[in-house]
Amino acid sequence: MLMRTHRCGELTKVHSGQTAVLNGWVHRRRDHGNVIFIDLRDRFGITQIVFNQELNAAAHKRAHELRSECVVSVTGKVMLRPEGSANPDLKTGEIEVMAQAVEILNDAQTPPFVIEDEADVTEALRLKYRYLDLRRPKMQRLLQLRHEVTQQVRSFLNAQGFLEIETPMLTKSTPEGARDYLVPSRVNPGSFYALPQSPQLFKQILMVSGADRYYQIARCFRDEDLRFDRQPEFTQIDMELSFVDREQVLSLAEKMISRLFRETRGIELATPFQRLAYQDAVGLYGSDKPDLRFDMPLYELTAFAAQSEFKVFRETVANGGIVKGLVVKEGAAMPRSRIDALGETAKSFGAKGLAWVKIGQDRQLESVIAKFLVAGRLFSAIPEIGPGDLLVCVADSPKIVHDVLGRLRLQLAEELQLIDRERWRPLWVVDFPLLEFDEATRRHVAIHHPFTAPLDEDLGLLDSDPLRVRAKAYDLVLNGNEIGGGSIRNHRREIQSKLFDLLGITKDEATKRFGFLLEALEYGAPPHGGIAFGLDRLVMLLGGADSIRDVIAFPKTQKAQCPMTDAPSPVDPEQLKDLHIKLDKID
Ligand code: AMO
Ligand code: AMP
Repeated sequence: MLMRTHRCGELTKVHSGQTAVLNGWVHRRRDHGNVIFIDLRDRFGITQIVFNQELNAAAHKRAHELRSECVVSVTGKVMLRPEGSANPDLKTGEIEVMAQAVEILNDAQTPPFVIEDEADVTEALRLKYRYLDLRRPKMQRLLQLRHEVTQQVRSFLNAQGFLEIETPMLTKSTPEGARDYLVPSRVNPGSFYALPQSPQLFKQILMVSGADRYYQIARCFRDEDLRFDRQPEFTQIDMELSFVDREQVLSLAEKMISRLFRETRGIELATPFQRLAYQDAVGLYGSDKPDLRFDMPLYELTAFAAQSEFKVFRETVANGGIVKGLVVKEGAAMPRSRIDALGETAKSFGAKGLAWVKIGQDRQLESVIAKFLVAGRLFSAIPEIGPGDLLVCVADSPKIVHDVLGRLRLQLAEELQLIDRERWRPLWVVDFPLLEFDEATRRHVAIHHPFTAPLDEDLGLLDSDPLRVRAKAYDLVLNGNEIGGGSIRNHRREIQSKLFDLLGITKDEATKRFGFLLEALEYGAPPHGGIAFGLDRLVMLLGGADSIRDVIAFPKTQKAQCPMTDAPSPVDPEQLKDLHIKLDKID
C-alpha cells in the first residue's frame, strides 16, 4: 500500500504541480463518462480526485469500481482547478488531484445511510452503526471539540498547581441522590460495588491527604430517567481545592470556563459572571437555571390578586398561595385559540388554570375576568405593562406558580423567537437552601449533598428554622443549562453531625454509608471545597449540538441501551452462578 504524503484536508494551490498520495474513504462519485470525479474523505477534510480517460485510461477504468465508503490510496498530480470551478467552501477547493494510480485497500458494504451532515436518519440507526455515524463531518468536529476542551482544561489546571488523580470505579455508593449502578463481587458473595455517581467522597479524602488541588476528567454513573442532557454515564470535569472559600472557587472556575470559550470558539464571556441568589432566580424567572438570553420576568401579583374580586385569586391568597404573571409584549394580538392552547400547556405543567388579561389600546382590560379586576391597580402592580400587551397569570402554591410560569416563559420565548442564539449568558446561582422537605418520605433532604456547608450567618437557624438555612453551594448556569455545581464542605465534625441529625441519618447509618469519610475528617481535614462541570453539556453548548448524545462517542438511548453492542444483555447462567445470583422470573 502506498502511504499517504498528505491528508485530505491539506492540499492547496501552493502544492500544485506536486505528486501526492492520499488515503481515505470514497465520499461521493460523479461519473461524467470520460471523466469521473471522486471526493476522497478522511478526518481532516475532502479532496476532489479526477480520473480522466484520456490522461490515464487505466486509472479511469479502476475508478468504475470505487463504491461509496470503500478505502483507497490514490496517487496523482495536484492541479489548480479550471477557471470558475473552485469551491470556496472547501479548504482544498482551489485544487484537484489528477489520478495516476488508485489502489483499493478495502471494499465497503453499501452503508445504511449516506455519510452526510444532513442525512435523514433515525437515531436508533445512527447508534447501531455509530462508526458510520461518526464519519460524518459534524460528528468529527464534535469529537475534535471535545478533545480540545479536555486538553484546555488540563493545561489550565496543571498551570494552577492541580494534580490529576484517578479515583475508583468499583466503590461504595456516593450521595448524589440518584440510583446506583451495582456490580456484584464474585469473591465476596452477596456484596456489591457501586459505580460512582461522582468522585465526591474520594476528592474530599484527597484533601485530607494533602493533595491540595485535585482534578479529574471523571466518568460518573447515575441510574436516572434520561433526557437530552442526561446520560446514565457521563463525564465531569471534577475538582477540589484546600484552604479556599467560595469566592476563590468561583473565580478559578470562571477563569477556566472563560478560557475554554475563548480558546475553542473565540467567544469572550463577560466577567465576572452575573450572580443571582437561588431565591431571586426562582422568584424572578421561575427556575434555578434561568435562561437569561431574554428578559420576560415573573411579576408579583399576590397583593393585587388579594384585592381583586376574582374568587380563584382571593381564595388562593387566603390559603397561603401566591399569584404571579408573565407579560407578553404585544401579545394582545394573539387569537383566543392560541391563548387557550397556552392555558392547556399550563395545565399540563400542573396549573389549575391560566388567567389572562389583554390590555386594549385605550388601556381597558379585556378578559373574561376583567369585571373582577381594577385596571389602575394592575398598572401600579406592573408599571411596565402597556397597551397591546398580554398578561397571563397563575394562582397556586409558590412551587407550582414558579414551576409553571418558569416553563411557560421558556416555551413562549421559543414560540415568539425571543432567544438570541448568538448570546452567551453565564450565571452563578448561589445561596441555595441547604435542605428541602421531601413530602414523600416526610423528612429533610440535602439539596446538594450532605457534606455541603451552611452559610456562616445562617448557622444559628440550624436548630430553629432549618429550612431557611442557606448553603455555601453554587451552580453555574449557561443559557438555561446547569453546567456545573459544587460547594464548600463541612470540614469539622460538629456541624456534619448536626446535619446528619437534621437529615434523619442515624449515627449507625452514617457510619455504614460514609464512615470512612467521617473518620478521615477526624485526622486534620483542611477547609475545602470544589465544583464539577458536566463536560458533555459544556461541549454540547460549545458545539451547538442538540443533545449530549451527539458529543459522546458511544452514548446510550433513552432506554439506556446501546444499539451497537446490544448492551445491556442477558448473561450466561454460569456467570450468574459464579456471582451467587438467582434471577426472579421477568415477564
Ligand atoms: P452534580 O450532581 O451537580 O454535582 O453534577 C455536576 C454536573 O454534572 C452534570 N451532570 C450530568 N450530565 C449528564 N448526564 C447526567 N446524568 C448528569 N448529572 C449531572 C451537570 C452537573 O452540573 N459531586 C458534586 C460536585 C461537587 O459538589 O463538587 C456533583 O456531582 O452539568
Ligand atoms: P373559571 O372561573 O374557572 O371559569 O376560570 C376563569 C379563568 O381563570 C380561566 O381562564 C381559568 O383558566 C383561570 N383560572 C382558574 N384557576 C386558576 C388558577 N389557579 N390560576 C390562574 N388562573 C386560573
